[in-house]
Amino acid sequence: MSADNSQGIKTVLQESRTFPPTPEFSANAHINSEEQYQAMWQRAKDDPAGFWGEMAENLDWFQKWDSVLEGDMPETKWFNGGKINVSHNCLDRHLTTGRKNKAAIIWEGEPGDTRVLRYQDLHREVCKFANVLKSLGVETGDRVTLYMPMIPELAIAMLACSRIGATHSIVFGGFSADAISDRNNDAQSKLIVTADAGWRRGKEIPLKKTVDESLTKSPSIEKVIVVKRTGANVEMVPDRDYWWDELMAGASADCDAIELDAEHPLFILYTSGSTGKPKGVLHTTGGYLLGATMTSRWVFDLKEEDTYWCTADIGWITGHSYIVYGPLANGATTMMYEGAPNWPDEGRFWELIEKYQVNIFYTAPTAIRAFIKWGDQWPNQYDLSSLRLLGTVGEPINPEAWMWYHQVIGKERCPIVDTWWQTETGGIMISPLPGLTPTKPGSCTKPLPGVVPAIVTEQSEPLGDNEGGLLVMTQPWPHMLRTLYGDHERFVETYFGKLKGLYFAGDGARRDEDGYYWIMGRVDDVLNVSGHRLSTMEIESALVSHDQVAEAAVVGFPHDLKGEGICCFVTLKSGDGSDDMKQELTNHVRKQIGAVATPDQIRFAAAVPKTRSGKIMRRLLRDIAAGRETAGDTTTLEDYTVLAKLRDEE
Ligand code: WTA
Repeated sequence: MSADNSQGIKTVLQESRTFPPTPEFSANAHINSEEQYQAMWQRAKDDPAGFWGEMAENLDWFQKWDSVLEGDMPETKWFNGGKINVSHNCLDRHLTTGRKNKAAIIWEGEPGDTRVLRYQDLHREVCKFANVLKSLGVETGDRVTLYMPMIPELAIAMLACSRIGATHSIVFGGFSADAISDRNNDAQSKLIVTADAGWRRGKEIPLKKTVDESLTKSPSIEKVIVVKRTGANVEMVPDRDYWWDELMAGASADCDAIELDAEHPLFILYTSGSTGKPKGVLHTTGGYLLGATMTSRWVFDLKEEDTYWCTADIGWITGHSYIVYGPLANGATTMMYEGAPNWPDEGRFWELIEKYQVNIFYTAPTAIRAFIKWGDQWPNQYDLSSLRLLGTVGEPINPEAWMWYHQVIGKERCPIVDTWWQTETGGIMISPLPGLTPTKPGSCTKPLPGVVPAIVTEQSEPLGDNEGGLLVMTQPWPHMLRTLYGDHERFVETYFGKLKGLYFAGDGARRDEDGYYWIMGRVDDVLNVSGHRLSTMEIESALVSHDQVAEAAVVGFPHDLKGEGICCFVTLKSGDGSDDMKQELTNHVRKQIGAVATPDQIRFAAAVPKTRSGKIMRRLLRDIAAGRETAGDTTTLEDYTVLAKLRDEE
């Protein structure tokens, strides 16, 4: 949803129901009173260094920092002089406690195979794989790409990288060969870890084959490590490709965690921006880990005995922070599921909750809308009484979906945490605290301690209650991105160029009279399709790279399940376009970017509406794609007949 759809917000405005946590939940929560929250929030605002310095005592440091915070946005350094290691904090420090035999990861594959890795087991596997990486020439500071299914080896590879100070770059398994090679080249990755294939709805996704294709265009990659997951037949290139199992069989389980600077780069994660190629969001070690650790504890109220399940794919930031780093740093039990929610049937998630007695469940609104469509009979077949807390992330949740989640899954007993954050923020920023915040369906409620947002105009003027505007951060936080890999200028320009001294990453929002935030969606040219960020520009350039396409304009439109669908207006070099051509272009986009970017609509047009200065008038196209009347100013339109023709073609 773009901000000029402010009609969408009006209906939400009428949402006046509030849902306080039950007294039982509050009584046991880590943070359970408004006073406690207010005191923490105010302290963090007035004295960020004092507050975060105290919080950082929750982590294990090899050497204490000289200063908590240096500089101001955009150039901040956190915990300078401090030495720390993420894998040590996620693993080693638990081994001297009762957690050593506790399940760190409970995993279930799509076919139903299961594995449980206790903290000791995970530590051993991580140490071995860190030695494997070293033996193949990976050194501190090198980049490693991970293109893997949702299997424990992915978490092992992440933690092994962090153990030796190699920076990982995870590429979601739904991306194409071209997307992998672009990312390999941008990061200059030395090695890639993949699997023969992964399972998805009973089918094998040929990951190694896609990697092979990407390697024809990724000269920096020297070695490939392949996990045997499905047994698919793959080609192995001698002296380049190695089987995970064979390397691990000969590896020592003895590997010290390297003492790294707090600002050592932990990972790069590519995300879509409104212009140009994907942005390599860079997170560093100490600040990121602190953010992931504290927000997991505050928002999910993690307890020693909890089984916690986040259904995201680790290929996205949610999986980084809230499947792997945050939960493990807290010594929690984190669940991982490999496959689709509707395989072998639509009851799979609920079956998993019953089977593993899941207590905390974190998923996306797009998934919730799919569950609603599939029908209550699926969750109703299973015992969901183990659940005590529910969460959502990725896009605004519509109040109807919120109520369904509350009633059918939470049985009106579980608080719902609607968590707003971004790849760039590293961790949750605005969210209810489940032990105290009365929730309002559709609102992500209030900023966490250390987060000081504001709603401003394009001129950086603060706005009042219930006035929609741009959501910004006015103070730095430890887990914010530090740069865009290899392009610091773009980092400064993208996030701090528009509104001086304020962090702005593209969302519109309003704050109501109770101080609750309501996210209105993106105000830039980024689509939010099933909670995944996609740039209209990238899809347009994929379309234009087809030799029959003269011009393309891509916009989002409201989509029942995906939140936003992808509508492509295409002008061909010749001919009127056909269903075959639509299929061809759809396949072309999938090949260029990946299945995540599959167009929902392709419309052929003789021309796209442009301003006299040549800018595509996306607002008009959005109206057409959504089947709405065109509202607003069309006086800058260069050629009125274009609009009439587009409408006729519907
Ligand atoms: C959107 C995902 C409303 C928002 C963690 C943001 C949300 C983008 C919410 C970041 C929420 C995420 N309510 N909108 N609770 N959570 N968004 O980088 O537009 O994949 O800017 O990070 O998702 O997407 P990203």
